[in-house]
Amino acid sequence: MSAHIIDGKAAAARVLQQVRHDVNTLKAEGIEPALAVILVGNDAASEVYVRNKILRAGEAGIHSLEHRLPANSSQARLLALIAELNADNTVNGILLQLPLPAHIEENRVLQAIDPGKDVDGFHSENVGGLSQGRNVLTPCTPSGCLHLLEETCGDLSGKHAVVIGRSNIVGKPMAALLLQAHCSVTVVHSRSNDARALCQLADIVVAAVGRPRLIDASWLKRGAVVIDVGINRIEDHGRSRLVGDVDFDSASEVAAAITPVPGGVGPMTIAFLMKNTVTAARQQAHAQRSQSEAVCLSTC
Ligand code: GUN
Repeated sequence: MSAHIIDGKAAAARVLQQVRHDVNTLKAEGIEPALAVILVGNDAASEVYVRNKILRAGEAGIHSLEHRLPANSSQARLLALIAELNADNTVNGILLQLPLPAHIEENRVLQAIDPGKDVDGFHSENVGGLSQGRNVLTPCTPSGCLHLLEETCGDLSGKHAVVIGRSNIVGKPMAALLLQAHCSVTVVHSRSNDARALCQLADIVVAAVGRPRLIDASWLKRGAVVIDVGINRIEDHGRSRLVGDVDFDSASEVAAAITPVPGGVGPMTIAFLMKNTVTAARQQAHAQRSQSEAVCLSTC
C-alpha cells in the first residue's frame, strides 16, 4: 500500500484564496485588517517564521506591522508594547512569536494580549472557550490539521484519534478540536504506558512530539490517516534536512493518507493565522458597530 500524500501547500492556497476574498469584502466595508507581529531576540527559526508570516499577510491583503525587541528587553518593555497594541483600534491581531528569551515569563505575557486580538488562540479565555465548544479564536496549527483531516476524511464523527504530544500549542488544543469534531480522543505522551500500542488503535494519528521519525509503520493500524506536525532538522549522510515526527517512507506503506514534511502542516499554520486575523477584524468591527448603535439609542 502506498498512502495518498496530503498536499498541505495546495490546501493552504485554497484557505488563503478565501481569506483574500474575505479581506476584500471587509475593505469594501471600510475595514482594513491589520496584524502586529512581535519578535523578541533573534532566534534563527523564529526569524524565518516571522518573515513568512509577514509575506503571507501582504499576499492576503492584510496590513502587517513588525515589532522587534532586542533579546535583553525587559518583560515590562514587552508588556508595555502589548498594552499599546491592545489599545490601538487599527490593530486587529497580535502575534507574539515563541519561544521567548528565558528571562520572560511566557504565560504572563500571553495573558496580557487582548483575547479578541489573540490570533494564536493562546489566551486562557480562548483556551477555555475552545474546551467548552464556544466560538473563539483557536490555535493555528491544530486548526490547520483539523482542516486537512476534514478535507481528507470528510465527517470525523466516531473516529478514534490519537494525538501524540501534549503541548499547549498543538497537542492539547488538537485534542479539544478533535473532540468537538465528535472523535474519540486519546492523548499519548512521554509518560504513557505503551504509546505504540495505543497508537495502533487509531483511525487518525496526529504526531506532535518533536522527535525525528519516531513513529514508523509499526505504530500504525493499516488504513490510518497520519498528520505529521513535527519539523526536525537532522544531519543525514552529512547533509542537513527537515524531517517530521513520522518516518514517512515506512508509515506510507500502511497509512491510507499522510502529510509530508515539509509541505504538509507547515503552510496550514500560516493560512490559519491569516484566517484568524480576518475573523478578529470582523468581530471587532461588529462589536464597535453594536457599541455605537447602543450609544446612539441611549442618547437619541
Ligand atoms: N512558535 C512556534 N509555533 C508558534 C505558533 O504557532 N505561534 C507563535 N506565536 N509562536 C510559535
